[in-house]
Amino acid sequence: MSLCLICNNEYKPFISFGPQPIANGFIKMEDLGNEYFFDMQVGHCEVCNMVQLVDQPDREQMFNSNYAFFSSTSTYMAKHFQQFAETIKSTYLQNDNPFVVEMGSNDGIMLQNFKNWNIRHLGVEPSSNVADVARSKGINTIVEFFDEEVAKNIISEYGKADAFMTANVMCHIPYIHSIAKGIKTLLSDNGVLCFEDPYMGDIMEKASYDQIYDEHVFFFSAMSVKYLFEMHGMELIDAAHQTTHGGSMRYTLAHKGAYNVSKSVEDLIEKEKSIGLNNSKNYAELKTRIEKSKTDLYELLSSLKSQGKKVVGYGATSKSTTILNYCNIGPDLIEFISDTTPIKQGKLTPGMHIPVKEYNDFIASDADYTVLFAWNHKTEIMEKESKYKGKWITHVPFVQVFE
Ligand code: SAH
Ligand code: TYD
Repeated sequence: MSLCLICNNEYKPFISFGPQPIANGFIKMEDLGNEYFFDMQVGHCEVCNMVQLVDQPDREQMFNSNYAFFSSTSTYMAKHFQQFAETIKSTYLQNDNPFVVEMGSNDGIMLQNFKNWNIRHLGVEPSSNVADVARSKGINTIVEFFDEEVAKNIISEYGKADAFMTANVMCHIPYIHSIAKGIKTLLSDNGVLCFEDPYMGDIMEKASYDQIYDEHVFFFSAMSVKYLFEMHGMELIDAAHQTTHGGSMRYTLAHKGAYNVSKSVEDLIEKEKSIGLNNSKNYAELKTRIEKSKTDLYELLSSLKSQGKKVVGYGATSKSTTILNYCNIGPDLIEFISDTTPIKQGKLTPGMHIPVKEYNDFIASDADYTVLFAWNHKTEIMEKESKYKGKWITHVPFVQVFE
């Protein structure tokens, strides 16, 4: 039994993925031999409905000056964050001289919009290499892990915030009560917290188990988010589904009583109950589907290998680290993975050591099959790769070949 990070009740993990490395821990050939692994298990708490990792590596192991994820590698995501910023500006920044804070602002993909509008902003980003990129664009950024203490320092220097935004970060932080307390203190009376993360409803529906990796400690639903923030005097006032990251949810919260609660919240919670996000039986069934996906993918790749087909991968995503290590897929089955991120190129994938190569190598490879690890960017990638003559492989929502 483990103790829930939200409500401190006991829960039992429903799946173990075995030893997993740091998902973004791409390594150089010469550094092989000293890799860190942790036992990756996930559980669902029946009291507060939070789905969570049982253990997580120390935060400095994941977020540091070598952080390999640069948000701006996707032009589609840049558009998404522009729209996100516009929504915040038009809905919640009506007062004079507003101030916005973003946690995990990375290379400035969202805050660049506020900077361009001359709106007072602050990014809080502990990975110094990505923070440096944001600073070089003129985006005001501090290199810190946000928590309650940092929130107090921000108030002393800038005053309270009208909007606190964060995307694909809240779910990374096991010390989430400190984050919630910090946000509660930092927000002005009418201030809002608006955050997005991969949605548990989509993971359940698509068996997209590759969302589970070291950085993702929580898999949120409206039920669990409501429970968590009510513990801190905050209210979930809106929830809106997003297509990003393979299916995400944008949650808007405010001080209790500050805004009317949208009907979308009640509707979503009803839907979550109807698809069984509050029922342990459904998590046991999800485990069975994940195990089938593992067998199917391994068998497909082994069969292609025995037919002498050339198979490569597209997008050395964090998500792919879970697939490769859980399904035991190495360079014998996938020759290389192409990725546009320079810091990943020339290195090996964490744990399974498949070479990561430049995009041009993909073009030159003329591969018979390509595993689409960046499946969440499928629309963008299919437009870009319309000339590719080989076939694609995906595992979402089940293992299949498509053209
Ligand atoms: N918001 C961006 C980046 C997401 S990646 C996007 O959606 O593309 C997660 C980011 O969170 C990383 O840049 C990591 O360094 C940062 N992070 C992790 N813990 C944090 C914390 N406690 N406070 C602020 N940022 C944090
Ligand atoms: P992403 O799916 O956003 O994230 P995660 O690491 O959270 O699973 O990562 C996309 C990766 O795919 C990133 O390393 C860049 C790469 N990529 C390409 O190589 N080509 C592309 O066209 C796109 C959109 C992404």
